[in-house]
Amino acid sequence: MRKNTEIVRSDDENGLQRAAEILRNGGLVAFPTETVYGLGANALMEDAARKVYAAKGRPSDNPLIVHLSDADEAKKYCYTSDLFDRLAECFLPGPLTLILPKRELISDGVTGGLATVAVRVPSNPVANRLIRLAGVPVAAPSANLSGKPSCTTFAHVAEDMDGRIDMIIDGGSCQIGLESTILSLIGDRIVMLRPGGITKEMLEAKGFSVALDKAVTEKLAENERPLAPGMKYRHYAPEAQVILLDGDDRSVEDFMHGYLNDPSVALIGFEEYTTLARGSNVCFIGRESDQQTQANRLFDLLRSFDHHPDVRRVYCKLPERHDLGLAIYNRMLKASGYRIQKL
Ligand code: TXA
Ligand code: MG
Repeated sequence: MRKNTEIVRSDDENGLQRAAEILRNGGLVAFPTETVYGLGANALMEDAARKVYAAKGRPSDNPLIVHLSDADEAKKYCYTSDLFDRLAECFLPGPLTLILPKRELISDGVTGGLATVAVRVPSNPVANRLIRLAGVPVAAPSANLSGKPSCTTFAHVAEDMDGRIDMIIDGGSCQIGLESTILSLIGDRIVMLRPGGITKEMLEAKGFSVALDKAVTEKLAENERPLAPGMKYRHYAPEAQVILLDGDDRSVEDFMHGYLNDPSVALIGFEEYTTLARGSNVCFIGRESDQQTQANRLFDLLRSFDHHPDVRRVYCKLPERHDLGLAIYNRMLKASGYRIQKL
């Protein structure tokens, strides 16, 4: 049944108070964070979690991240460790999610029956204030329909969630544009399950050693299970087939030039690719060295192709795997269904 979705601006204090009340009472509110928009529900109510899965069309074995207003709150919901404290000291609040053994309070509906829970303390002031006002932990997946790229603007959330949830808070565009880094702290070592705004290099610079889960950069075999259940699902893919070009800049630009103005093909290029400048089918994602801008534009670009049904194929250079590039690489790999063309 279609719901009447209320829309409030993030600077509307009464609106935020109402949003907090909706959350406390088991309703659904989409809200901005520094990474992507979240679809929030009261993490202490089994029923509220069920509604999240229904609104997104998400498989219920894919657990939700529990959002807190303060890292100290984590102790109420999971068994924290010295490692947790040290990471929190360096990086929280911020775009980092940590997986720990869960306590009873968190319902199985939130964790998909796992014995662990993912916790995150967003730095976005609207998200932080909303969670504080709600006075409960907020379970929130990304606010997109399951399978689509995450929402990085209010328009994306309205496109996917209008009529399905109780309220959307319009906080403009998200700062980072890719979902949080997920680290598993199970077994007292750090395994990165999903790269994001807090990079491997940033963690290592603070003295943390980090192993990379295989599912971040490789396609798993049918019988392999990723540590983060969500990593197994088709994700981020537009209707058109995304193909990643593995070659140096010169050969990628030349290859793309061969498809210039072909309406069935879209080209994602760097601003340095000047020979593509006048192409009607070229989307510039930023300068090659400016990974932050690329991260910021990526999901909007991937979504935009679905508004152009003529586009059958999308070509993009295979991203570099260092710094924020690793997160871009991981999302592009999934968007392409692991299709890489060697040049
Ligand atoms: O930036 C973000 O993390 C955003 C914003 C809204 O905070 N949230 C987000 O949630 O990306 P979602 O549900 O789209 O992605 C969460 C990922 C999924 O791949 C899920 O499988 C994994 O985290 N996850 C959650 N709890 C887990 C757990 N206990 N163990 C392993 N993976 C877990
Ligand atoms: Mg998601």
